[in-house]
Amino acid sequence: MAENTLILGLQWGDEGKGKIVDNLSESTDIVCRFQGGHNAGHTIKVNGDKTVLHLIPSGILHQNTKCLIGNGVVLALDALQKEIENLKEKKISFSNRFFVSSACTLILPSHISLDKVKDKKESIGTTGRGIGPAYEDKIGRRAIRFCDLGQPEILKKKVQTLVGYHNKLLENLYDHDTHDSDAVFNELMEFKDLYEEYCVDSQEIMFEWINNDFSILFEGAQGTLLDIDHGTYPYVTSSSTTAGGVSTGLGVGPKFINKIIGISKAYTTRVGEGPFPTELFDESGALLAKKGNEFGATTGRPRRCGWLDLVLLKKAIFINSVTDLCITKLDVLDEMEEINVCINYENGSPIYKSFEGWLTKTEGITDFSKLPEKAKIYIQFIEQFVKCNASIISTGPSRNQTIIR
Ligand code: GDP
Ligand code: IMO
Ligand code: MG
Repeated sequence: MAENTLILGLQWGDEGKGKIVDNLSESTDIVCRFQGGHNAGHTIKVNGDKTVLHLIPSGILHQNTKCLIGNGVVLALDALQKEIENLKEKKISFSNRFFVSSACTLILPSHISLDKVKDKKESIGTTGRGIGPAYEDKIGRRAIRFCDLGQPEILKKKVQTLVGYHNKLLENLYDHDTHDSDAVFNELMEFKDLYEEYCVDSQEIMFEWINNDFSILFEGAQGTLLDIDHGTYPYVTSSSTTAGGVSTGLGVGPKFINKIIGISKAYTTRVGEGPFPTELFDESGALLAKKGNEFGATTGRPRRCGWLDLVLLKKAIFINSVTDLCITKLDVLDEMEEINVCINYENGSPIYKSFEGWLTKTEGITDFSKLPEKAKIYIQFIEQFVKCNASIISTGPSRNQTIIR
């Protein structure tokens, strides 16, 4: 059997999943997204050229790699269209290599309105992309799915019912403008081309790919601590960001996942509201934000920064059955005189172990033995604490700034 690998975030997202998925896609037949939507922002840098992907799997830059958006993803067709157009401008081709599950839940403009008005009251700090309300409708069995574009008459009725429901919420609960369901329907039909070109029965093609021994990479979005069940509820996203999400979001049983790479930054960041015990409010935090260029790839919001939390990391490794750890953004710590990691909690406050900074440039190093001794000590401590080997270490945003051990 070919090796199938899951890559997912172990923190609150933005761990560098896009960069690592792109790096490993070179030698992979297929890359699939299985949850989330265009709330994700996955950055890839190749020869100085930056690409940010929100919906399209991060294997798309490799012409021989196929990409699939699985049924677990909530799909905004306008966002997808824009992303395809941007990539086509970069001479990326899509024919016979890009597929979208017919069972994807569609995000409507009224989901976006609901997300924004709800967040004004609930203060989760969502990305405002309609993700939560779309998943609510999916679970409520009233969602519009991608396959519905194939039956316009039925679609029209479904849109009337769903938008009617959204309008009641918008008007009565939030005193907000309503949406015209005919306009929503017409807008959906404008994306008929996407349906005709890319809509597939993803269960069927997954079955075929797995049985034909293609190697598959499953690309997680968000991170473990944003998981709807295992994250810092209610400050989470509305999908299963953890390993279990692959099976439901693509229709692939767990035994077909051979390797699970969990990604953690060498420190921690979080966008939006919610608990963050190791958050820094001092100069060290400001240095991480500046050196790490910590601004959200989707909303541009500044990311909150703090030390690495090994207690949470160990838990995240367990929840996902992580087999290999990947540590990213090691180079961001290059100028830190002192580096702390949380190794315990006492009365709810983090207890830190302190490391001397290496104060040497690690950016771009591709060979573990070339890292400064103090950086090796830092990594080895993390590995021993969480009982998992760091088989990938990232030392810069570019594809080749990577140590693979
Ligand atoms: P994702 O959502 O997990 O794919 O991560 P994002 O793309 O949102 O955020 C990661 C950011 O860090 C992006 O700007 C990447 O280009 C950048 N990045 C990834 N790995 C490294 C690294 O090892 N060093 C540095 N300095 N930047 C990195
Ligand atoms: P990637 O894939 C970081 C956060 C939002 C908010 C919470 C809920 O790039 O790592 P949502 O719009 O999903 O309902 O917002 O989740 N969030 C992310 N934070 N990276 C992401 O994706 C995120 N996607 C959502 O900031 O706190
Ligand atoms: Mg991101």
